[in-house]
Amino acid sequence: MQKLRTNVSSLQGTIDVPGDKSISHRAVMLGAIANGTTTIANFLPGEDCLSTIDCFRKMGVAIEQNGSDVVVEGKGLKGLKEPTDILHVGNSGTTARLLLGILAGCPFHSCLIGDESIAKRPMGRVTKPLKMMGAHIDGREHGNYTPLSIRGGELQPIHYESPVASAQVKSAILLAGLATDGTTTVTEPHRSRDHTERMIRLFGGNVTVDGRTVSVTGPQQLTGTNIYVPGDISSAAFFLVAGAIVPNSEITLKNVGLNPTRTGIIDVLQQMGAEITIENVRNEQTEPFGDITVRTSNLTAVEIGGALIPRLIDEIPIIALLATQAEGTTVIKDASELKVKETNRIDTVVNELRKLGANIEATSDGMIIHGKAALTAKEAVVDSHGDHRIGMMLAIAACITQGTVHLQRPEAVAVSYPSFFDHLHSLM
Ligand code: S3P
Repeated sequence: MQKLRTNVSSLQGTIDVPGDKSISHRAVMLGAIANGTTTIANFLPGEDCLSTIDCFRKMGVAIEQNGSDVVVEGKGLKGLKEPTDILHVGNSGTTARLLLGILAGCPFHSCLIGDESIAKRPMGRVTKPLKMMGAHIDGREHGNYTPLSIRGGELQPIHYESPVASAQVKSAILLAGLATDGTTTVTEPHRSRDHTERMIRLFGGNVTVDGRTVSVTGPQQLTGTNIYVPGDISSAAFFLVAGAIVPNSEITLKNVGLNPTRTGIIDVLQQMGAEITIENVRNEQTEPFGDITVRTSNLTAVEIGGALIPRLIDEIPIIALLATQAEGTTVIKDASELKVKETNRIDTVVNELRKLGANIEATSDGMIIHGKAALTAKEAVVDSHGDHRIGMMLAIAACITQGTVHLQRPEAVAVSYPSFFDHLHSLM
C-alpha cells in the first residue's frame, strides 16, 4: 500500500515519457521473425514488453536488452524453435494475441499462459480466425481462454470480418498472413491502431490498406532494421490530464507518438477546451511524434463514442477523471471493450473514483460523469486491482483530492510505466 500525494498545489516541468508499449512489442516480434539484426532505441522496459522478449528467447531468438536499448538477432519467418518451456505472457494481452498470430504459422507445439488477469481475457477473438486459417489451437473453454496449446503449420488465407475494432485481432491475423501463401484480409468495424501495418513496411514487407480493410500477401521475408520508438501517448495521457486539472500547472511532454490512430485523447482535451500546444512534430521512419505542452484549463463536458473509441481506448480511465473536472455531463459510450481489458475498466474506474467523491455512473457500454465535482475523501483506500492504468489514474486523482488517499497494489504501474511515480514527483 502506498500513501499518495494529495491536494497538490502545482505541477511544473518537462518529462520524457518512456517508449510506446504497442510499438515496442511489435519491434521485438518483427525483429525476431525478420532476417538479420534489428536494433531498437527507446524500447519500453516495462513488464509487458519484457514478457514478449522472454517468450521469443524461449524460441531460440538471441535478444540483448540493456534498459531501453535492445538488439534482436532475427531468425527469419521459419527460424523459431519449438520451446521446451511454457510461454508466459504475464499481464500482457498484446503479447498473448500477437504471439498467437506468429505461432499459428510455426510448425511446432507450444503452450501459452499468463497471469490471473490474462486468464479472464477472451482469446477466442484471435483463436477463432487463426483456426479458420488452419492452426490447431486448444485450451480452456475450447480455446477461448488460457492456458492455450498451439500447433501451427501450413495456413490458408482468409478474409475475416472482425466483430471488434481491435488492433490485437487485426495484428494476429496479419502476422499469420505473413507466413501464408496468398492474400489474407481483415476488415474491422472501425480502424484500430496501425503500428503493425507501418512496421511491416519498415521491415521491407508489403501491406495494403483500403479504408477499414487491411491485407497482406504471403509468404513475405522481412529484413532486420533500426527502430526508434517514440514516447507512449497512452503514458503521456496521465500527465496531459494532470496538467489540465491540477491548479497552477504547466507540463511539457517530449517526443510523444502522434500516430493519428492513437491521438483521440488530444482531440478530447481540445474539445473540452484544454490549453494544449503541439510543437516540433517530426516523422522519423514511419511514426510521427512531437512535444506537447498542457496548462491548467477550464473544461467543459463532451460526448465520446463511435470511431473515436479505438483511438483512445486505453485513455478512458484518465479521461473519466478529466471529466469529473469539466462543467456538465460527459457521456462515454460504445466502449464495452473496456470490460475485457486488464480489469473490467467500467467497474474499476467507477468504483474507485466514487471512493474519492466523483459523481460517476456505469452504463452497459461506458459511463456517465457529472462535473464539476470536488474530490473530497477524508480517508480513502483505493485499489489499482492490479491494473496499471487504474493505478496511474488514481495517483493523478489523488493530486486533486482533499484528504488522505492510500493506493493498494501500486506496483501494477510497472507493466507500462516503471518510472511513473518518479516522474510524477519530479513535477511537484
Ligand atoms: C493494443 C491494442 C489495444 C490496446 C492495448 C494494446 C496493441 O487492444 O487496448 O493496450 O498493442 O495492439 P485492442 O486492440 O484489443 O483493443
